[in-house]
Amino acid sequence: MKRHPFILGSEAIEVNKIKDIAESLTRPDDYLGEGTTKKTMTNNTTTWYASWFDTPFYHILYKDRDANEAHAFMDTLTNYLNIPLGGSILDLACGRGRHARYLNKIGFDVTGADLSESSINFAKKYENHRLHFEVHDMSKPFGKTFDAVFNLFTSFGYFENDANNLNTIKAIKADLNTYGFGVIDFMNSTYVIDNLVPEEVKTVDDIEFHLKRYAKDGYIFKDIEFEAHGELFKFTERVKAFSLADFEMLFEQADVHLLEIFGDYKLHKFDAKTSERLIMIFK
Ligand SMILES: C[S@@+](CC[C@H](N)C(=O)[O-])C[C@H]1O[C@@H](n2cnc3c(N)ncnc32)[C@H](O)[C@@H]1O
Repeated sequence: MKRHPFILGSEAIEVNKIKDIAESLTRPDDYLGEGTTKKTMTNNTTTWYASWFDTPFYHILYKDRDANEAHAFMDTLTNYLNIPLGGSILDLACGRGRHARYLNKIGFDVTGADLSESSINFAKKYENHRLHFEVHDMSKPFGKTFDAVFNLFTSFGYFENDANNLNTIKAIKADLNTYGFGVIDFMNSTYVIDNLVPEEVKTVDDIEFHLKRYAKDGYIFKDIEFEAHGELFKFTERVKAFSLADFEMLFEQADVHLLEIFGDYKLHKFDAKTSERLIMIFK
């Protein structure tokens, strides 16, 4: 049995191979996203986040994300920010566009941007005159301004080069118009570390995912091992365990003003010990 180590940084990554396997899985076509077949490996694919998030396995493992919760959060957030109907929103690191599509449905002009080509190809099926998707690296300004820029569901803190976390905040600021608000919806690292489930086996679509979670050197790691079509895979997610104080430092360096902090998707008050989320509104 072959082993595919999709681990951090510069280790060899056989992206074409994983796509071959994914294509042979007997699953709906959209597992790979429309139009996604084999692609030439680019420099982007040398980082864990560029490879793992671009595979169909990532979407299989997390397929049970709570859509109702995500939609209710978007209702609550857009009401709170008082974004006028038709207002423009950039969903930065949008994945397959679950928030972006809903925001468009409730009346906003939405752009979804993500590094993952296969996720964007999938999302593009839903485009209309007020919903667009683009492959884009969030550490760079998008080149257009919006009434709001959302970075949702812990889509921050992946970079190996720390400077790119700050660059992402600067890019969000550059993407906001005069009236615009930035929103980062991050995990509450303290809560996550205190409640870490060290080992778990999760079976989704007949794939048995073996998960190991641990905190080390200021990062939270999740090792993900599974077998698919007779091949063994291992990925490691690695997210910087930013605290509120860390974000405050980044905001200061980016000349961004933190306006409000919430601790969950209903926008309750943030509590450093008990809140599951760290949701920051800034401009
Ligand atoms: C945890 S997922 C969340 C996706 C989406 N926001 C959601 O809630 O379903 C993180 C996303 O960040 C994207 N991502 C990672 N690094 C990125 C970068 N440098 N620029 C843009 N997107 C990136 C991944 O491709 C992935 O879709």
